Amino acid sequence: MDWDSGLYDQKHAFVAEYGKELLSYVPDNLEQAILDVGCGSGTLTVQLAKLGARVVGVDSSEEMIARAKNILPEAEFCICDALNMPFTAEFDVIFSNAVFHWIKDHDALLKAIYRAMRDNGKLICEFGGSRNIAKIEAAFACAYAETGRDYHSEFNFPEVKTFSGLLEKNGFKIELIYDFDRPTPLSDGKMGLRNWLRQFFASELQVVSGAELEYILRKVEGLTRHELWNGHEWRADYRRLRAIACK
Ligand SMILES: C[S@@+](CC[C@H](N)C(=O)[O-])C[C@H]1O[C@@H](n2cnc3c(N)ncnc32)[C@H](O)[C@@H]1O
Repeated sequence: MDWDSGLYDQKHAFVAEYGKELLSYVPDNLEQAILDVGCGSGTLTVQLAKLGARVVGVDSSEEMIARAKNILPEAEFCICDALNMPFTAEFDVIFSNAVFHWIKDHDALLKAIYRAMRDNGKLICEFGGSRNIAKIEAAFACAYAETGRDYHSEFNFPEVKTFSGLLEKNGFKIELIYDFDRPTPLSDGKMGLRNWLRQFFASELQVVSGAELEYILRKVEGLTRHELWNGHEWRADYRRLRAIACK
């Protein structure tokens, strides 16, 4: 999927804002090396840079990395897929916020992370868990079908049990893992849900023309309004999975 880093920073700053809570799990050790997997435009990488001696951000989006380099020129950044990271036993902390649900193969992902990590290193991650955005996805599938298209979710929102099993299978010791509802206010009042759809369903919407696009956006708004609109803002039905695990 193509990421619009400008739209992301303007309208979806809440993603990194929520991620700040995750930073509290990063050990207090200014000597440590930290890898930010799927660093995006670098908002949290900037915070991580204050918590370690070496900070590296990787992201598959060239546009996101360009923006991240701009705000943190002194850090190392690498455009690469999380499944193909060129690191072996280099990091004490591997951090990731709001990324793993974009990656289909969590087994391969955890292998790549394990390889990049030093012994006793720590994985600190949060992403969409099972039933994340279930109401929005159901409404989107319905609206998309009405324009003659099938929606196949590209997201990977695992159950805690599934992700725990993969962590253990790949040699991690789990310190903490749970999922939780986090209804998430979308910025920009009544435009909030359509802005969100344009960013997060970009692959599906790029093949849709003007009038049809408007139809889909309106239909999704109509189908979800009674549950997700509170009169002044949209609240996305987010459900997150948070995990901390050691090598
Ligand atoms: C919602 S953004 C989160 C960015 C950042 N972590 C934050 O909290 O603001 C998701 C990011 O994951 C990146 N991403 C998605 N799939 C990826 C993959 N397979 N490898 C590396 N990065 C990926 C996207 O390019 C995007 O920048």
